[in-house]
Amino acid sequence: MIYLPPVPEIQGWMSTAELQWLFEQAREMRSIVELGSWKGRSTHALASGCEGIVFAIDHFKGTEYERATTMKEALEGTIKQQFLKNTSALDNVCCCEGDTAKAAVAYGEAANNPIDMLFVDADHSYQAVKGELLAWWRVPRKLLAGHDRYEAGLPRIISELLLAGVKIEPGPGWLWFIREPRQYWERVQKVWEGGSCDQ
Ligand SMILES: C[S@@+](CC[C@H](N)C(=O)[O-])C[C@H]1O[C@@H](n2cnc3c(N)ncnc32)[C@H](O)[C@@H]1O
Repeated sequence: MIYLPPVPEIQGWMSTAELQWLFEQAREMRSIVELGSWKGRSTHALASGCEGIVFAIDHFKGTEYERATTMKEALEGTIKQQFLKNTSALDNVCCCEGDTAKAAVAYGEAANNPIDMLFVDADHSYQAVKGELLAWWRVPRKLLAGHDRYEAGLPRIISELLLAGVKIEPGPGWLWFIREPRQYWERVQKVWEGGSCDQ
């Protein structure tokens, strides 16, 4: 099945092939959490495929180190309104405004059931991604995926996980993913909470 993006297309950084992959994965999922939604380009693909709810978590302030460049528009304070407008035709998007790491705590307390898929596309610095993965790792049951595997801290994140024995695979374009991530939790804890990789 082909993903049909809205017209005009939502601004963002994901390619058609990447959006199609997200859409296809989402069709197998009943609940999804997305970290980093910006104006809703990836959210739209996920929510178009998913029968259940997509929780989109973003503080809508832009990523700290990109606020002066590619995310300058965030300074105008209109990103959340654009996100809401761009996803308004979909009734399964739950906009959760806030910090991704803090949301992990709130989500863990509020939900008794794990979600099926986590999609990570917020701040790509090593420390931010590691913090998010440690906070969220045990929440997705079926799939943990993310974007921008060649950017900022992601190459280091990926090589540390591979060395720890986590089966992390490349998706189309700059996507990466791990199936049934919970099976690797002890390995992740060992490498990232064992004190050897905290730079
Ligand atoms: C690369 S963009 C997301 C792109 C989006 N997935 C798309 O398809 O267009 C990163 C987003 O992460 C958000 N973000 C960065 N750090 C965050 C944090 N700590 N908590 C919440 N949102 C964050 C930014 O506001 C920005 O909207």
